Amino acid sequence: MQQAIAMFDSGVGGLTVVKEVMRQLPREKIIYFGDTARTPYGPRDADEVRLFTRQIVDYLAQFDPKMIVIACNTATAVALEEVRSYTTVPVVGVIHPGARAAISASQSGHIGVIGTDGTIRSAAYESALKRLSPHVKVYSLACPLLVPLVEKGMFRDSSTYRIVADSLEPLKSTPIDTLILGCTHYPFLTDPLQEVIGSHIQLINSAEETAREISTILHDKGQLAHEEDQPIHQMFCSGDPSMFQYIAKQWLGDQLESIPVVWQVP
Ligand code: SIN
Repeated sequence: MQQAIAMFDSGVGGLTVVKEVMRQLPREKIIYFGDTARTPYGPRDADEVRLFTRQIVDYLAQFDPKMIVIACNTATAVALEEVRSYTTVPVVGVIHPGARAAISASQSGHIGVIGTDGTIRSAAYESALKRLSPHVKVYSLACPLLVPLVEKGMFRDSSTYRIVADSLEPLKSTPIDTLILGCTHYPFLTDPLQEVIGSHIQLINSAEETAREISTILHDKGQLAHEEDQPIHQMFCSGDPSMFQYIAKQWLGDQLESIPVVWQVP
């Protein structure tokens, strides 16, 4: 049986990483878990997010994955090192890849970061960016109202544009040329985010760089899927599956038509 890459998030946000992994590594089997019953993680305290993370990693362990991807910024910020300490397979988070992509994109060294309360409070992006480039200037902003919009499938509603505009207001007076979408849910809101912040600012979605990191690690370990592999992906969520399936089908569209997916709720 083909060994899978196990990925998880507090809800549907990690599907933005799934989409990129399916694009870059179409032969890889993916097992995804969205903790939709307990989303959002952003307002929760770090100990609770670490507990939920451990429960999900234990759940995913039954599938004997070859890698675990924490496709959630809030969980990456507070639990990545801990998960690495109790698992034997490689564990990839989304913060370092996002920081790397932003450093190579920014001309001015003025970089904005938006994320959940938990991610911004952890200062994980600021540390990652400054480790890569000590003189970079970071403008961090928590946008706690955005994840619930995505979980409700409200990607382009007029109220979404209004909430995005109010949320980003503090960044409008900063000299940033690059904005990190420091939450895997935010790429669902790319249109309103880009319209509000302006087309002169480059949005960074960590999914592409994360998928590249996954590919490099699997390549180095000789664990990339084979050309003849025909992956059957499995998607799980902890809450009502109907909204999860609706969003997953909208987001993954073409990929889901051509790739068999087994929908299950644990
Ligand atoms: C959340 O559950 O609040 C968002 C997940 C993330 O930070 O990517």
